[in-house]
Amino acid sequence: MSNLKKTFTSYGKVILLGEHAVVYGSPAFAIPITKLKIETEIKTTAQAGPFIDTAEFQGPLFLLPEKYDGIRFVIETLVAKDQLDTHFEITYHSQIPLERGLGSSASVSYATVNILNDYFELGLTPAEIIELANQAEAINHGSASGLDVATISSEFPVSFVKPQAIVPIKNKLNGFLLIIDTGETGNTREAVAKVRQQVLAETQKKELIDHLGNQARKGIIAWQQQDILAFGKLMDKAQVDLDKFGLATSKIKRIVKIAKKNGALGTKLSGSGLGGIVISLAQTKATAEQIAHAVASHATNIFIEEI
Ligand code: PMV
Repeated sequence: MSNLKKTFTSYGKVILLGEHAVVYGSPAFAIPITKLKIETEIKTTAQAGPFIDTAEFQGPLFLLPEKYDGIRFVIETLVAKDQLDTHFEITYHSQIPLERGLGSSASVSYATVNILNDYFELGLTPAEIIELANQAEAINHGSASGLDVATISSEFPVSFVKPQAIVPIKNKLNGFLLIIDTGETGNTREAVAKVRQQVLAETQKKELIDHLGNQARKGIIAWQQQDILAFGKLMDKAQVDLDKFGLATSKIKRIVKIAKKNGALGTKLSGSGLGGIVISLAQTKATAEQIAHAVASHATNIFIEEI
């Protein structure tokens, strides 16, 4: 392997409807966000590694902090399986804020599998790539549904039922989605456990999970029919249900209220909750900008995506 260099671009994602319910076998609906990118590069090194270069860590793989265990798992698995030469370094340049429900960890895992597959010509199939990235996600987040990897590896929004039923939804809704970063880090593992505890203890909470799943089912149909008003209403309903699990922080609740006052068709937390992002639906770019302006002092970042 003489002085070879390869690059791979992977993207972020946003869950539109069905988070948490998807863990229990209901459908979820999520969209890749190509504005949020991770550029990954692999190159040959003079010394044996592997070496890793991220915004926060530069050094040999064996010193990589625990929070990058997903990356470690992917590299160690492929190196051991295929007896790979370890004279390489992988560099990640990410625009995806961490731990916000924007798919950063899935995107890193997916990029790592792809770039090793390409550089070493391993011949992994798309299904094998997704499988390995999902195993890394399970290490990152406990029992992950597989939704994140399914979404970031798709060109289109996806309807997803675990473990692997992925249907691309190719039409546009014809609206604008605000992705509002609260700046608060979420914790998927903790949020999933918090929901599970309630579902096991209270029958009404199991019913709420079924509601969330039904909202995703209806949402996919509304999207296909380009019924933006119905889609917005389902987002609002999902927010009410997610809040009942205690997943909305006071900042999330404030942003939801302000967005509503400023013409949003629907607004909800997205991803695991307990921080992270709020998404809001607007019919026009002007309304989206008005909402962005109104919530700006509560957000660290706002992206507007035409959908
Ligand atoms: O916080 P995120 O974007 O990783 O999303 C978590 C979504 C859950 O449904 C809560 C968990 C899962 O594995 O699907």
